[in-house]
Amino acid sequence: MIRLTIDGNPVDICDGSSVLAAARAAGATLPGLCSDDRISPQGSCRVCLVSVDGGHPVTSCTTPVREGMAVRTDDPRAVGAARLALELLVSEQPARALQIPADRSELVRACAHFGVTGSQFHGAGHARGVDVSHPYVKLDRDLCIACGRCVRMCAEVQGTFALSLAGRGFDTVVVAGAGESWLASPCVGCGGCVDTCPTGALAEPGLLDPAPIDRTTTTTCGYCGVGCSLRVHVRDEHIAAITPVHGAPVNRGHACVKGRFAHAFTRSRDRLTTPLIRTAGRDSPLRPATWDEALGVVAARLSAIRDRYGGEAIGLISSARATNEENYLAQKFARTVLRTNNLDNCSRLCHSPSAAGLTASFGLAGGTNPFDDLDRADCILVAGANPTEAHPVVGARIKQRVLDGARLIVIDPRRTDLVGFADVHVQAHPGSNVAVFNGIACALIDAGHVDEGFVRHRASGFHELTDVLRDYPLDRAAHLAGVDPATLAEAARLYGSARRPAIVYGLGITEHTHGTDGVRTLANLAILTGAVGTTDGCGVLTLRGQNNVQGASDMGALPDLLPGYQSVTDPHIRDRFSRAWGVEVPDRPGLRILDMFDAATTGRLHALYVIGEDIAQTDPDTRRVQAALAACDLVVCHDLFLSRTAEHADVVLPAVSFLEKDGTFVNFERRVQRVHPALPPPGQAKTDFEILHLLAAAMDADLGCPTPADAMAECASLTPTFAGITHARLDRDGPLYWPCRAPDQPGEARLYLDRFATPDGRAALAARPYLPPGEQPDRRFPFVLVTGRRLAHYNSGSMTRRTPNLDLVPREALDVHPDDAARLGLADGDVVEVASRRARVTFPVNVTDSVAPGQVFTTFAFPDQPTNALTSDCADTTTGCPEYKVTAVALRPG
Ligand code: FES
Repeated sequence: MIRLTIDGNPVDICDGSSVLAAARAAGATLPGLCSDDRISPQGSCRVCLVSVDGGHPVTSCTTPVREGMAVRTDDPRAVGAARLALELLVSEQPARALQIPADRSELVRACAHFGVTGSQFHGAGHARGVDVSHPYVKLDRDLCIACGRCVRMCAEVQGTFALSLAGRGFDTVVVAGAGESWLASPCVGCGGCVDTCPTGALAEPGLLDPAPIDRTTTTTCGYCGVGCSLRVHVRDEHIAAITPVHGAPVNRGHACVKGRFAHAFTRSRDRLTTPLIRTAGRDSPLRPATWDEALGVVAARLSAIRDRYGGEAIGLISSARATNEENYLAQKFARTVLRTNNLDNCSRLCHSPSAAGLTASFGLAGGTNPFDDLDRADCILVAGANPTEAHPVVGARIKQRVLDGARLIVIDPRRTDLVGFADVHVQAHPGSNVAVFNGIACALIDAGHVDEGFVRHRASGFHELTDVLRDYPLDRAAHLAGVDPATLAEAARLYGSARRPAIVYGLGITEHTHGTDGVRTLANLAILTGAVGTTDGCGVLTLRGQNNVQGASDMGALPDLLPGYQSVTDPHIRDRFSRAWGVEVPDRPGLRILDMFDAATTGRLHALYVIGEDIAQTDPDTRRVQAALAACDLVVCHDLFLSRTAEHADVVLPAVSFLEKDGTFVNFERRVQRVHPALPPPGQAKTDFEILHLLAAAMDADLGCPTPADAMAECASLTPTFAGITHARLDRDGPLYWPCRAPDQPGEARLYLDRFATPDGRAALAARPYLPPGEQPDRRFPFVLVTGRRLAHYNSGSMTRRTPNLDLVPREALDVHPDDAARLGLADGDVVEVASRRARVTFPVNVTDSVAPGQVFTTFAFPDQPTNALTSDCADTTTGCPEYKVTAVALRPG
C-alpha cells in the first residue's frame, strides 16, 4: 500500500494506482473525461489536472501514486488549466450536449464542477449526423469528444476491436468497423462503448429519454451461467435500461448483448398473464381461467393420478432458469406431495456429465476454481466451448488474458471466434473428445510433463490410465480425431509446460454419448500436471449453459440426489430429510427426463409437470417428446409464453422471469448470488415459488418455508455444503461460494487445496477408451450436424426473439463449409433441406469456414425451424445427457 495526501488528507491505496483513483478514493470530486477504471489511461482530455508536491499541473489519470506525495486537486493553476481544457471541448459541442441530464453525461457533470456554462472559444461547427442503424447503440457523432474510451473498451475489455477514431484534429470521431453502419460493423453489442461514453455520443435508446428513472434494482443476469451483476433501471413499470454493475465480482462492469439489452420480452404483448386450461380434451382450445380454477384442476388430476397409480406415475421437470429456492421447493413438492423421485431438471440435457464426471474425478459437482483464476493463468485450454457467443463475458476475459500474454489452446470442431486468438486449434471431429484427451495425456506423459509428486501423493488410477493410454499414442489419437499429430503434440506441449494452466470447457464436451468420459479424460490433464487442487494450477472451469444450471442440481432437483448431492438411497440422509419434512422421502431413484418420455409412451407415466422448459422445442428427437406429451393424461407447464410445450399442455400457468423474482442463482463457479425483482409480475403471473405453494395447498399440503429466504434457510439446515448461506448474509456480505459450511466461513472459491473430496481424498484419474459417437454418418446421411448457440439468442429463443435482438439475427441459418456449398451448388441464403434419420427441416444457408467440411451447424432458438426434430435419442451412457453435438444428416438443395 502507498500512503499519500490528497488536499491534505491522508489516503492509503494499492501501489500501481493512479493519482486520479487515489483522489476519488479520498472522496475528492475530480472529473476525468478520457478515463475509466476498466481501461488503460490515455491522458488526453486534461480535465483531471492536479498538482503534485507543488509542481506544475499533471494529468492525475496517468500519474502513478508514490509514497508521501502531496496532491492538490484545488491547485489554482491545475483548476484553471483543466477549466480551459474543458471549455475547448465544450466549444466543439452542440448546445444539446449540455442539456443532457447530469446523471447521464460526465461532460455535464464536469461543466457543473468547474462552473462552465459556455466557452470563450469558437469551435468548428459540426454536422456529422447520427447513426441509428443498431437497435441498442445510437451514435450522435457531433457529441463525440474523441476521448477514445469506447475504442479502448472495445479493444481492452471486450476484445472485439470494432471501433477506432477516424479523422484528424477537430474532425476526429469514433467509427465502427471501416466506417460502415454500426449495425453492419463487427460490433457485438456488449454495450461497453455506451457504458463508458462520457458525453452521450454513444447512447442506448432507453436512456435517451430525459424523464427520470423511477427506481434501480441490482440483480443477477438470467442469461447464461456467468452470473453478471446488473442494475435494472425502471421507468413507468417498464425497464428503461440495464447497465452492468461497475466493480461487480464476476463481470467487473461488463455485460453482453443479451444481459445488457435483451429485456423487452418482459412487456411483450404475448406474455402469459392469466392461467389457461382446456376443458374438453387436448384438442379443445386453451381458455383463460382463474388461478383457483386452474390450480383446482391440476390438484384434482394430479391427486387422482397419484392415488390411483402411485407417485411414480408423475414426472416433474424443474428448471435451470428458476431460482435455487424455486428448485428447492419443486423437489420438496415432488418428494413430499407427489411422492415421487421422478424429478429432474434441464441440466440433464447439458451438464449432467459435468456433475457426474467432476464428482468422480475430484469429489464435488462443480468447477474447481474461481473465474478470477483466469487472470493468473499463463495457458488456457478451451475445449468444446464458444464463450464469446454463449458466455460473452468469459470470452472477453479470455481474450484479455491472451492479449496480456497467456497462451490459448482451442479444442473444437468449429473455427470459433477464439480460434483467431489461439496458439493452437485442435479441430477434432465431433464426438472424438476422449481420443483427443487421451492423446494429449499420452503426450504429457511421454514428454515428461507429469507432476510426479502430485500424481504419487494426491491422485489415484495412474497405472490403469497408462494401461489404457498405450492404445492412444499421439498418431493414433490424432487419426481418430482427424487432426494433425503435430497439432495435438503442440497442444500437449503448451498445456504441459505452462506454470498455471486453466481448463475451460462447455457443452461440446458433455453433450455426447460419452460425455461423462469426455469430462473425466479432460480432468485427467489437470490431474497429471498437478494443475488442480493447488495454489498454482487454475483447475477446471465448466461453463454452464443456462443461468442456474449449477443451482438447480445443487438444490436436489434430481431423481437420485437430494439437495447438496446427498444420495436419496442413503437411509440416514433420507431419514434426516423425512424427519425435517414430516413425510417419508421415496427411497427409489426416479426417472431422468428422457426416461420420463419413454415411460409416458409406454403407459407408466401419466402426468408430466414442466417448470419453465420448452421440452417440445429444446429436447432431442422432438417427435418422441411430442408422443410422450400426447400419451400423458395430464400435462402442466409454467412458462412466460405459449411455448411449443404449452401447445400440448392441459393447463398452462403464467410464470415470471428472472427480472421479476426474488431468490438466488448459482453461477458457473459455484458462486451463490442474489436475485431481486426489478418489476412486478405482469397481470396475474406468479413466481414458480408461489405457484408451487398454491398448488401444494390445493392438494392439502403445506410446503413450509413461506418465503424464498426461508427456503434457503431450510435447505442450508439440511445440506452441509450450504450450511453457512442465508439471504441475510448474501445481502450483507455479497456473493458466497459453496461449499460454505458455517455462518462464519467465507465459502471455498478454490477447491481441494488440502485433499480432494473423493472417498480416498485423491483425484481419480480415469482410464477410459475412446468409443465412437452414438450416431455416425453414412452414405445416406454423410454430414454431421452440430448444434449450439449464437450470440444474439438464448436457448429456445423465447426471450431474445421478443427483443430487438431479432433485428441482429432475424432468423436461423445452417452454417455450411464453402467446399460443401460449392459441391452442392449452394450459396448464401439458398434454402437447403436437412434430413436426419428422423425428420426433415429446411434452413437458409450461411456459407462459412467456421465449420469444417462435412459438418454443418445451427441452433434451436427458432421454433419454426425445429432443429431438435433432427437430433437423435442417443444419450450419455452415464447420465442420459443427449448427444446434441453429433447428428448424421443429409443436405438437399431446396
Ligand atoms: Fe485524465 Fe482525461 S481523464 S486526461
